[in-house]
Parts: sequence; structure tokens; C-alpha cells
Amino acid sequence: MWIFGAYGGLATTVVLGARAIARGLAAPQGLATESDLCRGLGLAPLDSIVFGGHEMRPGDWAQSAREIHDDNGTLPLPLIDALKKDLKQLSKNVRMGALVNAGRTIERVTGAKKQRARTLRQEAERLQQDLRDFQKKNRLDSVVCVNLTSTEPELASSPAHRSLAAFERAIDQDDTRAVRSSSLYAYAAAKLGLPFVHFTPSNAALLPAIRELFEQNGAPYAGMDGKTGETLVKSALAPMFKIRDLRVLSWQGYNILGDRDGAVLADSENKQSKIATKDALLPQILGYPLHSHVGIDYVPSLHDHKTAWDFIHFEGFLGHRMAMQFVWQGCDAILAAPLVLDLARWCDFAKRHGEKGPMKHLACYFKKPIEADTHDLHAQWRALVDYANAYRNQTRR
Ligand SMILES: NC(=O)c1ccc[n+]([C@@H]2O[C@H](COP(=O)([O-])OP(=O)(O)OC[C@H]3O[C@@H](n4cnc5c(N)ncnc54)[C@H](O)[C@@H]3O)[C@@H](O)[C@H]2O)c1
Repeated sequence: MWIFGAYGGLATTVVLGARAIARGLAAPQGLATESDLCRGLGLAPLDSIVFGGHEMRPGDWAQSAREIHDDNGTLPLPLIDALKKDLKQLSKNVRMGALVNAGRTIERVTGAKKQRARTLRQEAERLQQDLRDFQKKNRLDSVVCVNLTSTEPELASSPAHRSLAAFERAIDQDDTRAVRSSSLYAYAAAKLGLPFVHFTPSNAALLPAIRELFEQNGAPYAGMDGKTGETLVKSALAPMFKIRDLRVLSWQGYNILGDRDGAVLADSENKQSKIATKDALLPQILGYPLHSHVGIDYVPSLHDHKTAWDFIHFEGFLGHRMAMQFVWQGCDAILAAPLVLDLARWCDFAKRHGEKGPMKHLACYFKKPIEADTHDLHAQWRALVDYANAYRNQTRR
């Protein structure tokens, strides 16, 4: 698995968690791909996964895990110590990433310099070469690419995004305004025909031109923006109001979080990408417009422990108005890491079975699922169960 944003909080939790499970030091809690749903499907074993990636900040996975322990206490010290050798060894697979048109806040938090030494075409080729080298050196059948970089500001739509030919021209003309780092990462995966998981809300990765390239080169992709906290609860609860014909008048949500992710989302440019993916689902599930609001604020002392408070104002029989409130206190990386491992295994499975394009059956994992028919968590889950059962029935025949 190749992770863009390799030393981030989520990426580090993914790598440490996968190695802990592989070595029998932790249970695979939270992974649908380790449940009965997937028995007999032949998904890639967790202990066969080799990790590498691109990152802008110096360090290694052991150091990053230690920092997460100090800030959050989520990664236990004895586990970090037991896996230190694995983490140090795997960190040799991490290469310098690319920072293109990333905006002031990502430049600041990554500490990466603004000046570029390479053209876009040179950068795109270097990223592809890193992926080829990783696959060859580790003798891997396939590599799944996963984007876990910081949330970028929204990229304005451009004629260069509409077709692959136009996008290739923009790269050749070094038109940095038409791309961001995540575009180059998705482009590298698509160019090599590798599966791609887009776990962030950045809209620059799965541009129509890049999706055309995934189709052309026969690779599956899934996205976007992992559904792990407040939005997960919303997508499970909203169908209940719909089923009971309780009319939701207002749904007010307020999130506070710390960490680097929180610092990036404190910038209104970057925050807009997140709000766009968190706010779209309610009218789709309920079937009517309503007043809704999503607030996100940075509270450094919380680190990765996010708190969401939601207030739902609704109307029932005889027009009587009532309210529901919930408080969600989740640790972001702990919630997200098993989903990343699931998604990588599903996409690898799809590629091995000749599937390509958007993986609609993975909608339950995302806040803004690509080409999905519904945001209802229960319906999304049924679609994934049907997908798994269809393969199981095929192998039984
Ligand atoms: N529950 C969750 O954790 C969750 C849910 C949904 C989406 N996400 C998204 O996943 C992403 C990662 O979250 P996180 O908490 O690990 O954040 P993080 O800030 O800890 O990690 C991001 C990493 O990406 C690196 N990076 C930034 N730009 C890069 C580039 N161009 N190339 C290579 N590396 C780059 C940063 O240096 C950092 O190490 C964020 O975009 C977040 O919004 C997380």
C-alpha cells in the first residue's frame, strides 16, 4: 500500500495498526474485511501488506507514532516499542512528496518550501517512478494508492479538467493553477493503472480527466472523504426520521478538533472543502430542503479527539415540535484507520477481478461517495453485503 501523506496521524495509525494485527499483537477490531462478510472471498491477507508512501515532512513511522502517543495516548508505548523495527524498516520506503499549488496553510504545517525545482511533467514522472521502484523492490503483485494528505483548498473548475487530453496539455505547459498535489498523486496512480482510494475531501484528485485515465488504464477508484464521525451518525439517524415521517426542520452541527488536521481546517479556504462534503447528505436522505449548518473550529488541546454536538429540531403528529441532541466524542484516526485498510483491500480485490472505475459499492465508507445513489448508511451497507455475496455465490458455483 502506498500512502500519500505517509507520516500523518491517520497514516501512522494505519501502518502501526496493520503491523500490530499482522504480528498478533492486536485484534482486527473495526475491519469489515476481517468479519464473516468477507470469509472465503480471498482478500489480500493483512500480513502481506507492505507500506510505502510520499510525505513532505521529515521523520519516520516510529517517530510519528511516538508523537501520537504523547499527544493522544491512542498508540500504546509497548506496541510502538514492539514494532519499532518494522516501522523503521518500512520508513525506508517513504519518498519526498510533491507540493503544488497547496495553499498557505499546508505550506506552513508541512514546513515545505514554496519554490519548485521541477516542472509538473518532471514531478509527475518522478512520482510514477517512485511507485514503480517500490513495486519492483518489494516484488509486489499490485500497489493500492491511498490519499491521506492534508485537506486542500477547493480547486476552481477549469477547462483543463474536462478531458484527459486537456489535462495532459496543462501538465506539459506547467500550468500549476489547474492542479494541486492531490491531482498529481491521483494522476500517477491512474497512469500506472493502480487502484486509488481518495480518503480526503480535496476536490482536485478525482477530476473528470483523471477519472477518464483510470477507466482507460483499467483501475478502480473509491472516494471521497472518509465517513467516520458526525456524518456517519447523521447518515444512520436521518433515515429514522424519514421512516417515522418526523419532519426535520433544522439540523445544526458543531465540531471541535485539534491536531494538524484541525489546524489545516482552521483556514477558511481548506475548511470549505470539508463543509461541502459534510453538508450534502441530509436533503438527499430526507427528500426535502431543510435548514442545516456544519461548524468546525480548531481547539488545539483536543488533539485527535474530536467532539461533535448536533441539535435536531423536528416536527411530529399535529405539528408538535420536538428536539434531539447528541454528542459524539471520537478519536479520528482510531475510527478511520480500519476503514483505510478495508478500502485498500476492497480496491485490490476489485482490480484482481478486472473491475475498473468508481467503486459504488464502497459508498458506506465515504461522506461524499462518488456516483452513489444514496447517503443512507443502511442502504449503503446493504449494497456492500450484496457485492460480497455476489462474489461468494460465484465461487460456490
Ligand atoms: N477520521 C479521520 O481521521 C478522517 C476522516 C475523513 C477524512 N480524513 C482526512 O484524512 C487526511 C489525513 O488526516 P490526518 O488526521 O492524518 O491529518 P495529518 O495532518 O496528521 O496528516 C496529513 C499528512 O499529509 C502530509 N502532507 C500534506 N501535503 C502533502 C503532500 N502534498 N504530499 C505528501 N504529504 C503531504 C502532512 O505533512 C501530514 O503528515 C485529512 O485530509 C483528513 O481531513 C480523516
